[in-house]
Amino acid sequence: MILIKTKNYNELSKVACELLIDEISKKPNIVISFATGQTPIGFYSELVKAYKKKKIDFSKVQSFNLDEYYPINRKSKNSYYYYMFHHLFDKVNINKININFLNGETKDPKKECLDYENKIKNRSIDVQILGVGVNGHIAFDEPGSGFDSKTRVVNLTKETVKRNYKFLINKKEVPKMALTMGIKTIMKSKKIILLADGKEKREAIKHLLKGKVEKKWPVSVLKKHKNLIIVADKSALDL
Ligand code: GLP
Repeated sequence: MILIKTKNYNELSKVACELLIDEISKKPNIVISFATGQTPIGFYSELVKAYKKKKIDFSKVQSFNLDEYYPINRKSKNSYYYYMFHHLFDKVNINKININFLNGETKDPKKECLDYENKIKNRSIDVQILGVGVNGHIAFDEPGSGFDSKTRVVNLTKETVKRNYKFLINKKEVPKMALTMGIKTIMKSKKIILLADGKEKREAIKHLLKGKVEKKWPVSVLKKHKNLIIVADKSALDL
């Protein structure tokens, strides 16, 4: 495990950007799995800046995304699909055919999840970008999720629904379910870069760094990963 402590959110975003520039330059056809939420917004904006300065080339990059609300229209501004295009995909030269996304519009979510899991198995993720929920969830693997879980349909906890409500663009549509990669799916990634900032993430980070591996705190399982980089600001690390 490598822990990079930054002085603030701005520096966290820049450090994460440099790490990804390095990964893409080493392997232009890299498979990256992206995260959503508030935390990576600054990181994505740094990637866009780097792209404009010709420091990064997404033309061969293949992408997956961790999760998506369910059911949700892809055009909904609350969807993670919209989020990714808005913050990153529409602003860099990623080839649209290389973008893989869980489809929140599907009528057959079980099949959707199974197909997605198989796609990941066939390609294998080189770098997984992760954030962490206040309650320690990763992707939408809420507390209690099995460490052997794969991509599946899940119910969100009341806590997560409430916390994420703050950031919904359309407040009339409040997703209570999601499609998410499982913990096993995430753990199979060759490298994981976890981003965490602010004091609301302190408890979760404490369970990762100092606690035991337990299902109550899904993030704690990352301790077992052989190639984990944590980029966290000092307020998240003030344990
Ligand atoms: C969301 C996403 C996660 C994300 C987490 C933290 O529920 N499903 O992938 O990492 O919550 O979000 P934030 O960065 O807004 O704190």
